[in-house]
Amino acid sequence: MTISSLCHRPWRSNCTIFMSSAFLVTTSSALLFGLAPPHTLPPVADLPSASGIPAHEERLLHIRDIRDRSGMRRHAWNLFSSVTADTHIDQPSNELKLPVWMTWWTLGETMGTKDEPLIFRPNDEKSNTEFIRTKTGGGPISGVRFNNIAYSHIRDERLYAMERFVSLKAQFDTDGTPTEQRRISDFDRGAIATKSAWFLVAEKNSNVVYKNEYEKYTLMPVWNGPDDTTNEGGPKYTPGRWKSKVLVDETGMDDNIGHRIKDANGIERLVVSIKRFYRWEICSERMLSAVNKAIGDPNRQAKKGDQIVLVGLHIASKEIPDWIWTTVWWHPDAFLGEFRKSPSQFLNDRPPQVARDITWSNYLLDTAFDMETPRELDNSPNACFNPWLEANVPDSVGSNCMSCHQKAAWPANRTIMARHRIKIEDDDKYFSNRVRTDYIFAFQSAKPVF
Ligand code: HEC
Repeated sequence: MTISSLCHRPWRSNCTIFMSSAFLVTTSSALLFGLAPPHTLPPVADLPSASGIPAHEERLLHIRDIRDRSGMRRHAWNLFSSVTADTHIDQPSNELKLPVWMTWWTLGETMGTKDEPLIFRPNDEKSNTEFIRTKTGGGPISGVRFNNIAYSHIRDERLYAMERFVSLKAQFDTDGTPTEQRRISDFDRGAIATKSAWFLVAEKNSNVVYKNEYEKYTLMPVWNGPDDTTNEGGPKYTPGRWKSKVLVDETGMDDNIGHRIKDANGIERLVVSIKRFYRWEICSERMLSAVNKAIGDPNRQAKKGDQIVLVGLHIASKEIPDWIWTTVWWHPDAFLGEFRKSPSQFLNDRPPQVARDITWSNYLLDTAFDMETPRELDNSPNACFNPWLEANVPDSVGSNCMSCHQKAAWPANRTIMARHRIKIEDDDKYFSNRVRTDYIFAFQSAKPVF
């Protein structure tokens, strides 16, 4: 009996998020595609009011300017714990509840090219991009979501429409607008954008007697820095090259912290329960096709009953003009670290409610309020990156979110140099024939509407 068997229970017809196209389809096509009958989607949840987010701008700028690392980290942990707060809404595919950010608008919903005011969430095939594929080799399954404030800005300003950018650019060109003013209007304070990274864990049948014990588990790479990588297994620093690994127990039965067994190569690996991840089971055709499209590799396809586990989450929050950049990634030290003498620096300032949580205590965190400071130990500019989301981008190990995102503009420039971890000025010639998009890249995929 696996956790996944929940997927086959009748109440799975609550499967709202991924089956929400039911809103748009007729009963006959619903039957054709095996969809649940129409029903309402979960509301797009706000952060808990007690979170105090967005926080006071002056205070945030102050802790940035005095380089109060601990203050910045405390704020970032609060943000993480607020976007993952329990909405008490049942998650369709398993026993978990939806965390706040998973009720937010997907990239497809936000950038959907319907020019009508959206009164419901059009999760139709065309606009549904629950999962996207990182174009660079070896990237994970990924997904972008926006909270209500960010979503409303994009819809109200019609920033989903390519024509909007064509006309903005033409207007700036005609008016001879100074470079620093060639920009969309800023997002409102409180806007939040997220980008997630997921790893596929195969369903295991506990009734099968496996020849070798390790076959009961899925081997998953763990980032332990650039020195812990090999020369094979995909582009430099991609997960396929990470030497450290854990064996994930998909049945969730094995939560014996410290249990180690040998993998297929005779190397001892820690066994971790899938309960130590935030996760989704692939329980609908619709989700299966979205995941497989995102994997994009015919030799490595998911099947129903497999699970995707959250290995990384980016959170950009518009609380200061340059946004606050926070990222978390899964690591066994995040829960084991509590018992170690020198826990990872990425656990510093973690609040007790996160440390106690069986799911959310498994993630390390880093944050950047500035692209240059506080400087790293070797005096290089401030680094803040997610191994799952950035290690596959050339030169992005040790990058800084902002130094890349500061260049977000329309039309796109495909040669973004992440390693230049320095601020470029607002009147830089890079922006002189573009429209700057307030640090958000999503508009590069703006589609023609008319
Ligand atoms: C190498 C450049 C680069 C770096 C470094 C980078 N990003 Fe991004 N990011 C992108 C691009 C390009 C996109 C849009 C395409 C996509 O989503 O894959 C994006 C998308 C996002 C989104 C979705 C909203 C949007 O802008 O479209 C968020 C949120 C985000 N990144 C946060 C972060 C955080 C937090 C960090 C640092 C930990 C970071 N990024 C580092 C290039 C980068």
